[in-house]
Amino acid sequence: KYEKEFRQNLVEWFENEKRDLPWRKTKDPYKIWVSEVMLQQTRVDTVIPYYENFLEKFPTVQHLADAEEEFLLKQWEGLGYYSRVRNLQAGVREVVETYNSIVPKTRKEISTLKGVGPYTAGAVLSIAYGVPEHAVDGNVMRVLSRVLLLEDDIAQPKSKKVFEKAVMDLIDVKKPSEFNQGLMELGALVCTPTSPKCLLCPVRDYCGAFAEGRTTELPIKTKK
Ligand code: ADE
Repeated sequence: KYEKEFRQNLVEWFENEKRDLPWRKTKDPYKIWVSEVMLQQTRVDTVIPYYENFLEKFPTVQHLADAEEEFLLKQWEGLGYYSRVRNLQAGVREVVETYNSIVPKTRKEISTLKGVGPYTAGAVLSIAYGVPEHAVDGNVMRVLSRVLLLEDDIAQPKSKKVFEKAVMDLIDVKKPSEFNQGLMELGALVCTPTSPKCLLCPVRDYCGAFAEGRTTELPIKTKK
């Protein structure tokens, strides 16, 4: 009951309140992949024009696989962390060579691709293919630590699997895309690091930290 209402409230809030972002107009796994790689270390507002340009220049895996390095890096200029786009091209070439240009639909297979870590794998699988898989980044860990009162140190790499398991016990198997993006969007817009907007939160009634007045104590994050 608690889990079901949490899921429903989160998904309904996301469907009504989500920002109109270009990668939310597609279910093309390649395009979702590009967006998630760009968003890994760059803000949404910065990413938008790069995302639009990149997909104009490289609209399919085949186009990106065939791209010249110099031209490719030119399109990334300003985003930084150039290893991201080199890994993306290497991963896309593996898709073309090994998977007949179809981005794989299982965590096991997609995770073998260059540059695709647990987060990117889960984001592409859930958003593009509707596969109920976890996609846990720092924002999602913050939301979960508050809602579920998880006190594991989010700065410790080993804590990640605690949060991933928690998501798998909570995920909406009928709407994994909206559920995962709902957690991301909640972390971006409402359940912010400082001064979370609990009065606007769709899952306030299910939040352990709100109930106990501990939103400012969580998540626990030691200096790294
Ligand atoms: N940050 C990471 N993934 C995102 C997404 N799909 N939408 C908005 N922000 C994000």
